[in-house]
Amino acid sequence: MKTLRIALIGTGFMGRAHSHAWQTAPRFFDLPHNVEMAVMVGRDPQRTAAEAARLGWAEASTDWREIIQRDDIDVIDICTPGDTHAEIALAALAAGKHVLCEKPLANTVEDAERIAAAAAAVPDQVALCGFSYRRTPALALARRLIEEGRIGRVRHVRAQYLQDWLSDEDAPFTWRLDRELAGSGALGDIGAHSIDTAQWLTGSQIVGVSAALRTFVETRPERDGVVGLGGTAALDAPRRRVTVDDAGAFTARFADDAMGVFEFSRVATGRRNANRIEINGDRGAVAFDFERMNELEYYDASDEGHRQGFQRVQTTEAEHPYMKAWWPVGHGLGYEHTFTHEIVDFVGAIAGAPTGPDFSEALHVQRVLDAVEESARSDSRFSAVKGITS
Ligand SMILES: NC(=O)c1ccc[n+]([C@@H]2O[C@H](COP(=O)([O-])OP(=O)(O)OC[C@H]3O[C@@H](n4cnc5c(N)ncnc54)[C@H](O)[C@@H]3O)[C@@H](O)[C@H]2O)c1
Repeated sequence: MKTLRIALIGTGFMGRAHSHAWQTAPRFFDLPHNVEMAVMVGRDPQRTAAEAARLGWAEASTDWREIIQRDDIDVIDICTPGDTHAEIALAALAAGKHVLCEKPLANTVEDAERIAAAAAAVPDQVALCGFSYRRTPALALARRLIEEGRIGRVRHVRAQYLQDWLSDEDAPFTWRLDRELAGSGALGDIGAHSIDTAQWLTGSQIVGVSAALRTFVETRPERDGVVGLGGTAALDAPRRRVTVDDAGAFTARFADDAMGVFEFSRVATGRRNANRIEINGDRGAVAFDFERMNELEYYDASDEGHRQGFQRVQTTEAEHPYMKAWWPVGHGLGYEHTFTHEIVDFVGAIAGAPTGPDFSEALHVQRVLDAVEESARSDSRFSAVKGITS
């Protein structure tokens, strides 16, 4: 069996989530290739060496350019902020590597176009974007039900992605609040997940939007310690200007004429990571909330009237997507499993079983983000998504 040698760039939240997944995937799933966790790449030599050792990487480095040029590396896993994705992904593709790139694909449509074009030019190299929620068994089941026609023709898509880690106006400044580094705020950070999930579940692209974006807190104190997505800051710390949105909403028109309503916020008090979607068709509906990630609600309009209603499916049966590899029925999964499944699918794709989202799908998400910003700038005027392919 072939062995893939992996280099992962970034030692933060996603660096740790992906490291865990690279460790776990070959231990719980029968992968078509061996994987070897070769190098973790960071910026600070000491911190990177410590994280690499702790998370199971054979080597640590602070020079991603040098690592990408090495012949003994097959895969580059990009877990850094969006401002770095284009440069790293382009270099990795040019060097003949398979690439897993965190979402959103880039900070601008122009960069996303360059990355997608470079990937399209090397079809033997797998290029996957990390929209990890697709790998939640309940959402994968929802997709299966929709593909089988169980909810009929889709009319409504209703998606919300709500967090509250920025609701305190003294929550510190991080790269996620800097447009230069993050591209946008709640929109690209979490709204992008809803866009990808909605298009993937329905099999239909968003073709136009009418949007509004808001920044409720204009300045935030410099961070002095990292905790979760935010951290700590002294009350008298200098404040920096926030250059991205805190929250937003848009209505969407889909290519197949379904209508969508999307809302995303990092200041939705009380909602920690409520990534929700409900899709209503003419024969039924599905509903999901990541805060109850082991459940899918399913409604079948053909049930007899006296027993009609949403049924709660616990997605822990062996026949549910990805579940055969895990625990006895009823013993649920967590956030980290979505990344393990992403690695399973990525390695499967390298062995010839295609999976998505490839970079052209991720580019379309980027174009929707762009249309949302354009509409928000023009007082919510309808904005067509550019470059529709189907
Ligand atoms: N799939 C998901 O659900 C999900 C969740 C969180 C974040 N993300 C995405 O993952 C990416 C990283 O986010 P995060 O939460 O891990 O951020 P983070 O701040 O926790 O970690 C970022 C890491 O990148 C490193 N880094 C930054 N600039 C670099 C450079 N120029 N060269 C080398 N290393 C550099 C930092 O040192 C740090 O180790 C972003 O694109 C983000 O949108 C995806």
